Amino acid sequence: MAKILVTGGTGFIGSHTVVELHNAGYEVIIVDDFSNSNPKILQQLETITGVKPAFVELDLCDEAKVKDFVKQHSDITGVIHFAAFKAVGESVQQPLKYYRNNFYSLINLINAFNSNISLVFSSSCTVYGQPDVLPVTESAPTKKAESPYGNTKQIAEEILQESCAVTPTLKVTSLRYFNPVGAHHTALIGELPIGVPQNLIPFITQSAIGKRGPITVYGNDYDTPDGSAIRDYIHVVDLAKAHVAAIKRLESNKASTNYEVFNLGTGKGSTVLEIIKAFEQSTGVKLNYTIGARREGDIEKVWGDVTKSANELGWKAELDVNEMMSSAWKWEKYLQDNPF
Ligand code: WQD
Repeated sequence: MAKILVTGGTGFIGSHTVVELHNAGYEVIIVDDFSNSNPKILQQLETITGVKPAFVELDLCDEAKVKDFVKQHSDITGVIHFAAFKAVGESVQQPLKYYRNNFYSLINLINAFNSNISLVFSSSCTVYGQPDVLPVTESAPTKKAESPYGNTKQIAEEILQESCAVTPTLKVTSLRYFNPVGAHHTALIGELPIGVPQNLIPFITQSAIGKRGPITVYGNDYDTPDGSAIRDYIHVVDLAKAHVAAIKRLESNKASTNYEVFNLGTGKGSTVLEIIKAFEQSTGVKLNYTIGARREGDIEKVWGDVTKSANELGWKAELDVNEMMSSAWKWEKYLQDNPF
């Protein structure tokens, strides 16, 4: 059976991907340092899949330890690399922390496999900045990143593309996520923001449950139908399934090149106010919100062209905004009764 290493596998997208890899018949081993996740997730994964996940606590910035880990697990056939710091605001305050962690971990990983590995890389639509043309395709130009976080994604993609160009044994698929939201239908895993949530959906659910005050809508003077900003929100389970499709494509050797990029979105944009309304309609919970100033660094509108993912990955998002909102709310209520 193929064995997949999932780095950052106790995180939000990582944990959902572990479930979908299991459902697809893969053996999985997780490494994580719990810098942005909770060890309890391992127990939750066992409850969902019925299998105690193989796990090693590991700091991927420790070159010697990573080399040793890979030597001890020579049966790993592929890697999905989620482990990275990802808070946009924090990256502005602590750039060196972000550059060190996000690059050391990636480079140590590739070196430990002697560049002889199939790797799925967790990238982001943030590399596009504010696209000139919407929906944005994978061939759109990247723009100067608005944050060190976004810059680490852009530079990591360049590192991978340039390495693949001279190393045929290194096969990489970069997946550019739009806005991952929602939770597993069991409500046993979901987004676990540390402190005050920066992202919209966890702030909405915490406001709805009374942990936070009213939501501030960051600007309603954008050039959009209702003035609030547009994003392409995608259910985290759809996103997880796309990672399984990417691993299968790498195993199939169907690709004509050893470096590929895919957009992972729904192809549909929603405004902040539309999301607020969708949450109220799907949960029956009234939200309090106020209109505030635009947030520094935000782009106005983005949604993905997902034709390439449909045609070549054989994947498309299936879960709608209603399922995104109701699953996020179910998870928030679970957390209230079962605090991590
Ligand atoms: C979405 C929209 C906000 C909070 C970032 C990263 C991306 C990925 C996801 C890591 C924006 C508005 C938000 C609030 C609001 N990062 N908003 N009030 O900024 O699109 O994407 O997070 O995986 O790479 O760039 O996501 O959820 O922060 O914001 O009005 O309290 O909601 O202005 O328009 P974003 P977000």
